[in-house]
Amino acid sequence: MKIILGVTSSISIYKALEITSLLRKKGAEVKVIMTDNAMRMVSKIPFFTLSSNIVLNDQFGEKDYIPHISLSDWADIMLIAPATANIIGKFANGIADDLLSTTFISFNKKVLIAPAMNVKMYNHPIVQENIKKLQKLDNIEFIEPVYGNLACGYEGKGKLAPPEYIVERVLSYNMPKILKGKKVLVTTGGTIEDIDPVRYITNRSSGLMGVSFAKKAKEMGADVTLIYGNINCSIPYDIEAIKIRSCNDMLDRLKNLISSYDVLIMAAAVADFRVKSVSDKKIKKEKEETIKLELVMNPDILKELSTIKKEEQIFIGFSLETDDLIKNAISKLERKKLDYIIANSPENFESEKGLIKLIDKRGDILEIEGRKEDIAEKVLLKIFNSKK
Ligand SMILES: Cc1cc2nc3c(=O)[nH]c(=O)nc-3n(C[C@H](O)[C@H](O)[C@H](O)COP(=O)(O)O)c2cc1C
Repeated sequence: MKIILGVTSSISIYKALEITSLLRKKGAEVKVIMTDNAMRMVSKIPFFTLSSNIVLNDQFGEKDYIPHISLSDWADIMLIAPATANIIGKFANGIADDLLSTTFISFNKKVLIAPAMNVKMYNHPIVQENIKKLQKLDNIEFIEPVYGNLACGYEGKGKLAPPEYIVERVLSYNMPKILKGKKVLVTTGGTIEDIDPVRYITNRSSGLMGVSFAKKAKEMGADVTLIYGNINCSIPYDIEAIKIRSCNDMLDRLKNLISSYDVLIMAAAVADFRVKSVSDKKIKKEKEETIKLELVMNPDILKELSTIKKEEQIFIGFSLETDDLIKNAISKLERKKLDYIIANSPENFESEKGLIKLIDKRGDILEIEGRKEDIAEKVLLKIFNSKK
């Protein structure tokens, strides 16, 4: 992949060095264009070293005959990180007065813009108007800044998105936007069923499968909400996430939300049973060798949701079995009026990789093996490419 990295004079400019290094490690070829003001903050040297490539700045002084045209012909994608309020304003208004803005206006392939600035600058109506104007163009995508403590001492939205996340967005830039305009609800992780104030029952689910689905659905253009229980992985910062505890909590949330979503991906490992009466005091160690816990059945979430499912909604369930995987999965798909079911086995728990079988209503089976992110991508492509 050939990338033009446009670097402007935000205080987060040092993170552009990490971005350059990460992109190179992923095998991308990077040419950096720095604005004059960026070069007042950091010299060309570290970018030159980390990109192992020429660093460009001068519209008229470079050896190339017409540098902005050769650069825009050369690259597959442009990334502007960090992007100042100034460069966003220039891009939005067609101002082409330096090498970066002139290359931008000559470029008709994908452009990713990662703003970074003080929260008052970011929220300024003019900056917001410029962002909206650019977002109307098909080839431009913004990588939203993050809420946090800003270098200027303020707290708010304006921090550059994490370099690893920016790099992931660049590497997945040509992901087909087949879920654009769709609202996708994903559940993940194990539920927690309390025994007493300090003990609970849960399961080995890490939550990675559901998080991978949420991430890939987002990359494919969906508006994603993640409902998560007990997990052992991180959630990308730009995904709206709601934490729940028990099966009943999850059911309540889903009942409230489901009507406004187009797709449900039910990857959570919901406990089938809960303790009949949760003790409000820590259960004491007694003299007896055994202790009895009475368990009752939890509600069947997918079955309950199937009664309010709309015709046009797509529900994807998971079935984890140790025996008769396919037979049990097909029976679950039918009983719970699912559109697709993913047959999963316990070996996939706590692992970055897995082997699943995607089964549709006709009983067609597609086996997919690999990293959970790759599985999520392939499942979504298989389902939604055929629905276009
Ligand atoms: C120390 C310092 C930090 C700055 N940080 C930012 C910033 O994070 N974001 C931003 O939009 N502008 C920031 N500015 C203002 C820009 O540098 C200024 O608007 C400049 O004209 C932008 O030029 P450029 O977009 O060509 O690089 C900063 C300025 C200074 C002096």
